[in-house]
Amino acid sequence: MKQLPVIFACSHHRDGNSDHAAALFLKGIRSAGGDAEMIYLGDMDFRHCTGCLKCRTAESHRCIFAAKDRAQELYEKIIHAPFTFFSSPIYFYHLPSRLKTFIDRGQWAFEAAMGKSGLFNTIPRRSAYACFVAGRPQGEKLFEGSELSLKFFLRFFKADLHPAINFRGIDEPGDLSSAPEKCDIILKAGKTAWKEIHNEFL
Ligand SMILES: Cc1cc2nc3c(=O)[nH]c(=O)nc-3n(C[C@H](O)[C@H](O)[C@H](O)COP(=O)(O)O)c2cc1C
Repeated sequence: MKQLPVIFACSHHRDGNSDHAAALFLKGIRSAGGDAEMIYLGDMDFRHCTGCLKCRTAESHRCIFAAKDRAQELYEKIIHAPFTFFSSPIYFYHLPSRLKTFIDRGQWAFEAAMGKSGLFNTIPRRSAYACFVAGRPQGEKLFEGSELSLKFFLRFFKADLHPAINFRGIDEPGDLSSAPEKCDIILKAGKTAWKEIHNEFL
């Protein structure tokens, strides 16, 4: 069997709102007869990009830190998964630092896409999905930076981010689980995501 879809739970603590969103998306996939791999990215530390730009000229655009942590393994999962889902809290109007560090380390994929290596030539375009939860009920541009960063990061892996599911006023760990209409939106998104790829990939 080809690689399963991958769900990235990106909060720095477990059993909160974005973990719940990740579990609901998985439940939605399973309700359509599918399955997915769950990755708790928020538990992982990554070496940060130093901007050395060695990945511009390195063989396969390999990052100097590729063997130092699990980031490269996760990029491979993104590349080979039929679709991905990212659930994340908003921290100071943006993504939590571990996810942002992981995104910055993806600079090698930008270099691969811009260069002539053809590294991604054989990979088909795939879908990506996201759910962001934020504690504050207001804030005009609360989700904007997060969505843009994730979208352009994923683009270099040939994954197209659908408009994110954004929930405001979700703060305490149980806030999402006690909002059934919001839970239902995520559940349905997981179910639809699986149905959309079923014939094409599996
Ligand atoms: C460091 C930190 C920064 C935060 N910054 C924001 C923010 O800028 N805007 C907002 O609405 N909520 C903010 N929050 C609240 C979280 O987004 C909210 O509690 C969310 O539900 C946490 O999700 P989780 O349970 O998956 O970790 C912040 C929380 C933390 C811990």
